[in-house]
Amino acid sequence: MTVHNLTVFIGAAIIAVSFAAPASHAQNANPQLLSISCAGCHGPEGRSPATIPPLYGRSAASIAEALRAFRADQRPATVMNRIAKGYTDAEIDGVAREIAANWK
Ligand code: HEC
Repeated sequence: MTVHNLTVFIGAAIIAVSFAAPASHAQNANPQLLSISCAGCHGPEGRSPATIPPLYGRSAASIAEALRAFRADQRPATVMNRIAKGYTDAEIDGVAREIAANWK
């Protein structure tokens, strides 16, 4: 991983946390804004440049299922378990639909 990629990676993590943090006590965040934080690691339109799994071409159901499994610590993870814990059910469904509809 180059220094630039690392910077993008860390930046995306911070964005993800800052989008996700208010979810538990405020209204659900806009799915399009949420998907921007996913693109920071998973690449533009889910076409990730490196070892992070791509998200394009996936169904909303499979993305939502993976996020719920990460949130429940039922799927091995390095970062997705922490990210997913910041999302409500409505936000998981919203961002999954947003990605499936736009990242073909
Ligand atoms: C900080 C970087 C980062 C961000 C931000 C991020 N992801 Fe991930 N994602 C990963 C990594 C790394 C993995 C592999 C599992 C792991 O190590 O946690 C992964 C795995 C996944 C998987 C499982 C893919 C597969 O086929 O195994 C899905 C689905 C997913 N992420 C969706 C999302 C969504 C939706 C968002 C935005 C809400 C998001 N991710 C934000 C880094 C990130």
